[in-house]
Formats: sequence, structure tokens, C-alpha cells
Amino acid sequence: MKLVVFCLFAVYCCSLASTATRETDRTLQRKKLQEVLKQLNAVKVSLQQSEKLLYTPPRNIEDCCCLSALKCFQANLEVSFNVKEGRQRQLFRSLKHPLTERGLNFCSSPNVNSTCQECVSHPRQNATEFYNRLESLIQMAISRLTMI
Ligand SMILES: *[C@@H]1O[C@H](CO)[C@@H](O)[C@H](O)[C@H]1NC(C)=O
Ligand SMILES: *[C@@H]1O[C@H](CO)[C@@H](O)[C@H](O)[C@H]1NC(C)=O
Repeated sequence: MKLVVFCLFAVYCCSLASTATRETDRTLQRKKLQEVLKQLNAVKVSLQQSEKLLYTPPRNIEDCCCLSALKCFQANLEVSFNVKEGRQRQLFRSLKHPLTERGLNFCSSPNVNSTCQECVSHPRQNATEFYNRLESLIQMAISRLTMI
């Protein structure tokens, strides 16, 4: 009898602990994404001055393609802007951070990446539009992490 009670108690504690871990991770993800948003804002002017056209994922991205869209934004930034120094370097590092990537991973089934569009198949947009869409992707992720 005692053993059963102990086991139930152990299971109960385990489930509490894992809930706590998930919540902390969400909080950390949200904080990281808020940092990304600030860093984005800090490069806004210099980024938008660019006359480059960039492959840009659309505005409303399905859950399982959000991470793939993030990677597309990362890749474009790396190719088209100097991400080796200054504020752009900070932004780029934050965008590639595992917390950021986990924060954008809304896919509940991990095996459906084949349906996401390739980065280079997205129509090219100007830097302003590129910036705005990246910003709204991050904002959307923050609000989803805040809600649940
Ligand atoms: C998902 O992407 C990975 C790496 O790009 C690939 O190895 C895997 O086969 C893909 N999964 C599906 C279901 O297409
Ligand atoms: C950038 O693209 C958007 C959407 O295609 C357009 O509305 C905007 O006028 C463009 N801005 C510049 C500076 O070309």
C-alpha cells in the first residue's frame, strides 16, 4: 500500500516538474523573441535603406512552415547584409539561437517539412517588406507564446 502511494506521489511530482520545465522554456523563448524584436528595431533604418530584393516568405505561414520561414529570413540576411559586425551581428546571432528556433516551431507533427516552400521560390521583395514580414513573424510567435 505504501509503495503504491509513493509511486503515485512520484508520478504526480514528475508531471509537475515537466510542466514547470515547459513553462520556463516558453518564458525563455518569449524573452529571446522580445530581444530579437528590439534588435530588429535597432537595425530597421539601415536595413530598409538597402535597395536589394530578397526572397521573402509570405505573411500568413502555416504552423509547420514557420521555422522554415525563419531559416529563410536568416539565410537572406546572411547573404545580403553584413552580419559579421555591429547590431546586425547581434540580430543574426539571436535569430539563429536555439530558443528563437524553438519559439518558432509550432509544428505538432515533426514529419511534414516537405510541404514548405523552398526559400528561393518565394517572390523577391524590397527590404522594407522583408523587414516588415520578419517583424510580424516574430510578433506572431510572441503573442502565441504569451497566450497559451
Ligand atoms: C525533412 O527535412 C529533412 C532535412 O531537410 C529531411 O532529411 C527529411 O527527409 C524531411 N522530411 C520529410 C518528411 O520530407
Ligand atoms: C516595397 O514593397 C511594398 C510591397 O510590395 C510596397 O508597398 C512598397 O511601396 C515598396 N517600398 C519601396 C520603398 O519600394
